[in-house]
Amino acid sequence: MEFLVLKDSKEVAVKAADIIEEIMRSKNEKGEEIYLGLATGSSPLKLYEELIRRHREEGLDFSNVTTVNLDEYVGLSESHSQSYRYYMRENLFNEIEIPINKVYLPKGNADNPEEEARRYEKLVDELPVRDIQILGIGVNGHIAFNEPENPLSSVTHVVNLTKETVEANSRFFNNVDEVPKTAITMGLKQIFRSKHIVLIATGNTKSEVVSKFMDNYITTDNPSSFLKLHPKVTIITDEKAGKGLKVND
Ligand code: F6R
Repeated sequence: MEFLVLKDSKEVAVKAADIIEEIMRSKNEKGEEIYLGLATGSSPLKLYEELIRRHREEGLDFSNVTTVNLDEYVGLSESHSQSYRYYMRENLFNEIEIPINKVYLPKGNADNPEEEARRYEKLVDELPVRDIQILGIGVNGHIAFNEPENPLSSVTHVVNLTKETVEANSRFFNNVDEVPKTAITMGLKQIFRSKHIVLIATGNTKSEVVSKFMDNYITTDNPSSFLKLHPKVTIITDEKAGKGLKVND
């Protein structure tokens, strides 16, 4: 596992964009399709801004890109301003001119969310291994919406969001009651089907959970601890989130 503690969230975004750009340029040269695993929330916002800037100003070409998202709230349609499909459209897809048939997210308003989770698992399974998977991390150690619980489901599933997650995400809604209490999330199996996992964490609220990577334990109480088992993980933090890592000393 590689740890990079950078000055601020801007530097974090630039570094993550560099990693994505490198793989995109090398695959674009060969005319190969690039599979990007993407996350929502505040952590990757500056990264998406940077990718859009490189697309506009430096010609970073997304025409060979397919994207696969981690999760979606149950009950929100794609036109709801807090659905993750809406977020992706607003914060990335519309700006990089990616065709709609090359972006994948679970359907939040599917009639049968359990069935939708199974459909998404199969769909993602049939896609090639992703080149990069971008992750944020919850203050409780969740990755995607794999919440601390025992047992953890390995495959895409419908999850009850913890009180902590609902409260943390209420900042995006008018009030806590509006936050969906369930979501469809990839399990660890699909998250691990990526050649390189890049986890972004910024701000003081993430410092405690980030410092837990320094212990040697793997526990379902902290789903992110399973990342220690993946062969290629880069954790990029700003100084605030990375203050417990002490890797630059
Ligand atoms: C989002 C996701 C979540 C977030 C995490 C951190 O698709 O899967 O795991 O990455 O909740 O959220 P932010 O970045 O808003 O702090």
